[in-house]
Amino acid sequence: MKSTWADVDAFFEQHLLPADDALSAAMETSVAEGLPPISVTPPQGKLLHLLARMCGARRILEIGTLGGYSTIWLGRALPAGGKVVTLEIDQHHADVARRNIARAGLSERVEVQVGRASETLDAMIARREAPFDFVFIDADKASSDVYFDAALKLSHEGTVIVVDNVVRDGKVADATSEDADIKGIRRMTGKLARETRITATAIQTVGGKSYDGFLLAIVGAS
Ligand code: SAH
Ligand code: DHB
Ligand code: MG
Repeated sequence: MKSTWADVDAFFEQHLLPADDALSAAMETSVAEGLPPISVTPPQGKLLHLLARMCGARRILEIGTLGGYSTIWLGRALPAGGKVVTLEIDQHHADVARRNIARAGLSERVEVQVGRASETLDAMIARREAPFDFVFIDADKASSDVYFDAALKLSHEGTVIVVDNVVRDGKVADATSEDADIKGIRRMTGKLARETRITATAIQTVGGKSYDGFLLAIVGAS
């Protein structure tokens, strides 16, 4: 079954995702530098890119940079003068990401901020940072609810918020799970159920990275 999912990804990649030196180099450098192989897949990266373009995003916030693979897809969605701010706790990941982002020609549009995302976000909220048009949440899943709350504070009516890895091989449906990541995703989803300022859904995905999913939300009542 898994090979079928990977085969389908490969088919669409061949047809819809032309060879891309900067993105391939970002993946290869990340592996060579010992980063975990957990970036979004190429079709998923392009989905983020398309979503950001569809909503005309000029200011994008990413929580969880890794080697900057998803960051490059998002950076390329920006119009001239646009900006991505991406948050990463690990100095080595951030160093690798900055090099990958530079190779993609995006250094001027992308700011990598190193530190615990919860602290960086608190500081951004405290200094009344201008709101973002698009937010991609993809760091430690145990803090998903904290990141979603912060994203909401850094949003305006119409901001699109995407959360990665909300399905985790279906484990999200297990109410008895003691896994901190699953508990975080379930806590976030439970809060969203009571949040009238957000309209959201979640979509399950398969592919090169197995079975997982995205939560998609827009700031605004349904
Ligand atoms: N968005 C990337 C993948 C991110 S993987 C892509 O798709 O290409 C998750 C990243 O979040 C890792 O690099 C990890 O170091 C970082 N991270 C984990 N906990 C964090 C925290 N508390 N604050 C900021 N970053 C964190
Ligand atoms: C993990 C994190 C991710 O962001 C991801 O897309 C897949 C796996 C992880 O921490 O295992
Ligand atoms: Mg992820």
